[in-house]
Amino acid sequence: MARVMKNISIFLLIAVSCTVTAQAATFNITNSCNHTVWAAALPGGGVRLNSGESWSINVTNGTTGGRIWGRTNCTFDSNGLGKCQTGDCNGTLACKSYGTPPNTLVEFALNQYNNLDFYDISVVDGFNIGVQLTPTYNCSTVKCDADINGECPTQLKVPGGCNSPCAVFNTTQYCCSSGVERCSPTDYSRFFKSRCPAAYSYPMDDATSTFTCVGGSNYNVVFCP
Ligand SMILES: *[C@@H]1O[C@H](CO)[C@@H](O)[C@H](O)[C@H]1NC(C)=O
Ligand SMILES: *[C@@H]1O[C@H](CO)[C@@H](O)[C@H](O)[C@H]1NC(C)=O
Ligand SMILES: *[C@@H]1O[C@H](CO)[C@@H](O)[C@H](O)[C@H]1NC(C)=O
Ligand SMILES: *[C@@H]1O[C@H](CO)[C@@H](O)[C@H](O)[C@H]1NC(C)=O
Ligand SMILES: *[C@@H]1O[C@H](CO)[C@@H](O)[C@H](O)[C@H]1NC(C)=O
Ligand SMILES: *[C@@H]1O[C@H](CO)[C@@H](O)[C@H](O)[C@H]1NC(C)=O
Ligand SMILES: *[C@@H]1O[C@H](CO)[C@@H](O)[C@H](O)[C@H]1NC(C)=O
Ligand SMILES: *[C@@H]1O[C@H](CO)[C@@H](O)[C@H](O)[C@H]1NC(C)=O
Repeated sequence: MARVMKNISIFLLIAVSCTVTAQAATFNITNSCNHTVWAAALPGGGVRLNSGESWSINVTNGTTGGRIWGRTNCTFDSNGLGKCQTGDCNGTLACKSYGTPPNTLVEFALNQYNNLDFYDISVVDGFNIGVQLTPTYNCSTVKCDADINGECPTQLKVPGGCNSPCAVFNTTQYCCSSGVERCSPTDYSRFFKSRCPAAYSYPMDDATSTFTCVGGSNYNVVFCP
């Protein structure tokens, strides 16, 4: 029995590795900031990136709800436990859950209908550092690297970033949580949109913020482009 299980495990391991190598998009994440950034990815985990360093992850075909973000001012112990000033994911270096706002997000869904990839940058959860997302195929680059922290409305200012109005005020309007499938821009979302026109500034901002590419592309992500 144990022998059979072991063989099945080995078979599964080989099958999974083959699937990954055959059908995966590589995200090459580079820290061009002049400070350390702790990169985070779901799926993927997280690593420390000193200025100029890169981290590559392979994301399987068909992944939905993927996101990548940078964390700042972190301290972790040798077990990878600690905390970050922005983007912290439950105190772990290798993220298994979302980051705490404010965090500028790269979001993606791979190989959706017609085998299209969907990707965007979002400041719905606030802004901490600038980011750029570039497909290796000939598809649109998306960037959000305005001085949002410097110009942040006083009410949203927090150490290391410019927070999301939902995180600060927790109202149905700012959180788009009234139950109806609809919410509108606010003065705060207009502040973010005016600085980063290609990024999501509130949850229903799809028309000007969603990008597509033929499935099979790889992606470069740059912090502080
Ligand atoms: C990602 O996939 C590429 C191509 O299959 C492979 O060369 C590379 O080693 C993989 N990288 C990681 C981090 O798994
Ligand atoms: C990732 O991008 C950086 C910066 O452009 C480059 O130096 C590095 O070689 C790339 N890494 C991989 C695995 O392609
Ligand atoms: C890092 O860059 C910021 C602005 O981009 C600048 O104000 C700061 O002096 C730089 N810090 C270092 C250590 O180069
Ligand atoms: C957060 O970490 C604690 C342990 O520190 C754990 O019990 C909890 O399940 C984690 N939550 C998530 C969402 O990962
Ligand atoms: C990239 O796409 C644009 C617009 O679709 C097109 O004008 C351009 O020629 C393409 N470039 C390459 C190198 O394929
Ligand atoms: C880290 O925190 C210090 C002290 O609060 C702050 O001056 C610095 O700007 C922060 N660094 C980043 C990259 O946010
Ligand atoms: C936000 O408000 C709702 C009720 O409107 C409450 O259930 C929820 O716990 C609040 N969230 C936070 C983070 O305070
Ligand atoms: C991803 O998988 C789908 C089937 O699930 C397939 O049609 C498509 O060609 C694959 N794409 C890539 C780039 O491997």
